Amino acid sequence: MSLTPKLAEIAAVPIDLVRVSAWAAYIAAADPRLSTAAASARFSARADQPLCLYDLQGRLERVVFGLADDGVMTLRGLAARLPAGSYRLADMPADLDIGQAILAWTLGAYRFGRYKTASGKPGSGNREFGETTIELTTSDPGRSAATLVAQACALARDMINTPANDMGPDDLEAVAAQVAARFGASLTVTRGDDLLTRGYPAVHAVGRAATPARAPRMLELTWGAADHPLIALIGKGVVFDTGGLDIKPSSGMRWMKKDMGGAAHALALAQMIMQSALPVRLCVLLPVVENAIAGDAMRPGDVLATRKGLTVEVGNTDAEGRLVLADALTRAAELEPVLTIDLATLTGAARVAVGPDIVPFYTDDDALAEALHAAARRVEDPLWRMPLWAGYASSIDSDIADIKNDADAWAQAGSVTAALFLQRFAPPGPWAHFDIFAWNARSRPGWPQGAEAQAIRAIFAMLQARYP
Ligand code: BES
Ligand code: MN
Ligand code: ZN
Repeated sequence: MSLTPKLAEIAAVPIDLVRVSAWAAYIAAADPRLSTAAASARFSARADQPLCLYDLQGRLERVVFGLADDGVMTLRGLAARLPAGSYRLADMPADLDIGQAILAWTLGAYRFGRYKTASGKPGSGNREFGETTIELTTSDPGRSAATLVAQACALARDMINTPANDMGPDDLEAVAAQVAARFGASLTVTRGDDLLTRGYPAVHAVGRAATPARAPRMLELTWGAADHPLIALIGKGVVFDTGGLDIKPSSGMRWMKKDMGGAAHALALAQMIMQSALPVRLCVLLPVVENAIAGDAMRPGDVLATRKGLTVEVGNTDAEGRLVLADALTRAAELEPVLTIDLATLTGAARVAVGPDIVPFYTDDDALAEALHAAARRVEDPLWRMPLWAGYASSIDSDIADIKNDADAWAQAGSVTAALFLQRFAPPGPWAHFDIFAWNARSRPGWPQGAEAQAIRAIFAMLQARYP
């Protein structure tokens, strides 16, 4: 027996990406072992189809993957299905965006293993936790850009997957402080009763029922050179949403650890911007609260003050996200940003409108909407523009206050009326609001059930194009 390892043992396993339209030419030129294997597996490079070729020792020698005509994100599924090991892109279409391919691969290889103590229980999944060592070895220049985006998405997913007992207000603040320190940003925290004296009454009202160790707060992270244009990023940071006194049913409450998904997304987007040193200035505003139930919880019918001065009648304590965002939007307006973006797991109605995989967004700025749609297509991060339909604005009129937080039933479009509520507080300049889900409701290879990063890859691509 030879002590020298065979090449296949030390080298990365090559992956050929083949579109179905290129299959005939590819297989005609392939070696006979490959064409025989393909024929016996009836493999013809249909989109999303993998073919694994093994050598005589049973080692994986080559992978052929059927690539869709319209993108590379399906590579996420391949990364999730292959055994741990080292891989490299070999044959691929000439027009392939290698950066996007690496990004897809890395997003697909994501696992949340924090609470798995042993190396995976039988039946706990098709891969052992802690063994996510798939590597895509290629020295393409697109690699570092892809890694930066993938790492930010993993940060958001880790934060969202982490249960509320370990991702409370202190924990979220600690993550924000870490990110700030890493990129030389400064972080200001307004906590507890200081929210009242410093003008964040709605944030206080929503979060004050939480136990003191989980007090509500406004996080404000600032970064960038003074002469660069200011972008405000806002994220809903409800660390857990019980619904408050208008309590959610158990099925609706089950996944509400993810209600800080907007804050996680805003922070991740900020990380992308800071790490790639875009020529902009950032103000990241994260209202962080627990929508809890206790004797001092806000009640249905209460009228709240806001930073802007508008009074808000609480029709439903479960429409808490728009209340904390109202104060954050007002704060953003004071800074006169050239662009304001907010991300929030704001409504269940957004899912009724476009389902779990598409993010509805709202803006009055047609050029911004076009740029977002174009970027979304480029990076395969699906967005869909929705209407800020003024005809529904009167559905949030209140009998006794300026507005109310739950729209009249006649307006029906819950995601639209939530956006119209936010619009009352948004800065006068360009503003876009994203009603995200931040979640994969079902498991598919490459899209495991649990947290998902949505919209921020598209927003980042749009910003990169605007601020090269
Ligand atoms: N966090 C929820 C919205 C949500 C629910 C997002 C499920 C993702 C999945 C939000 O705070 C909420 O409860 N919204 C209510 C508003 C209603 C009471 C006006 C909703 O959508 O039902
Ligand atoms: Mn709610
Ligand atoms: Zn909520």
